[in-house]
Amino acid sequence: MKVITSSEELKKALLPHYDSKKFIGLVPTMGALHQGHLSLVEKATSENDITVISIFVNPTQFNDPEDLKKYPRTLEADLALLEKANVDIVFAPTVEDVYPTKDTRIFSYPPLDEVMEGKARPGHFNGVCQIVSKLFTLTNPTRAYFGEKDFQQLAIIREMVRTYPFQIEIVGCPIMREKDGLAMSSRNMRLTPIQRTQALNISKTLFSAKEKVDTYTLPSLKVWVENEIKSSEGLDLDYFEIIDGNTLQPIENWQDASYIVGCITVFCGEVRLIDNITLKNNK
Ligand code: PAF
Repeated sequence: MKVITSSEELKKALLPHYDSKKFIGLVPTMGALHQGHLSLVEKATSENDITVISIFVNPTQFNDPEDLKKYPRTLEADLALLEKANVDIVFAPTVEDVYPTKDTRIFSYPPLDEVMEGKARPGHFNGVCQIVSKLFTLTNPTRAYFGEKDFQQLAIIREMVRTYPFQIEIVGCPIMREKDGLAMSSRNMRLTPIQRTQALNISKTLFSAKEKVDTYTLPSLKVWVENEIKSSEGLDLDYFEIIDGNTLQPIENWQDASYIVGCITVFCGEVRLIDNITLKNNK
């Protein structure tokens, strides 16, 4: 496993693989790796000749400087995990290498980026597209792997690839959950033991909501979820939206879309956690 810290070095390392027409799989991450990331890595190694994983806490996607400062950074432990996972190249660049000058590019994908995280974290998806497009240009992968936990991010990256255009297959991978249901996230590391227990009510509520789809109207289910979270100790609801899974726009009736997803964001203390669940899928 090669650990590379500069873009120039990465280009050099990949050159022979393009020449020999190897399939390259890219897994972009911000590190603090967990089983969810490893499931992406496993899929990438099984489907490609060469797997590149990037580890970079991207400053341009954080609209809150405190959140950026507190984002977990565990490079040594990450490298130890990746050693065992058959990764070929780890790309862990510095901020100066990725952004030698300010990135002034604007990525805008209305209406996909106007709702949920786009509304709650202005500039977030612009930053995500800045870094992901740079990683795509640098590595020119055959396939790139992203988790479905960041449901809106995945939809926006697909749209970026479709319109840019990049010749890259975007592979969405299912949410990985802890045994008790909590969606795996690097941010879970920041939870105290008490918060960890309190956070469990997020996935529990989503699972119960799915069971109620046949007996509740859509607006009444939305209110039920909101009230459940609002009355849960230690949890502070940012938003819960029931959306058309293709357009990401909120809907009012179960008949309004064939693919319907419930997306939630909750503060557990200072830690902002996101999760989602498919409520209907007749795709
Ligand atoms: O999902 C993430 O971890 C990040 O948003 C990504 C895609 C690695 C870009 O920094």
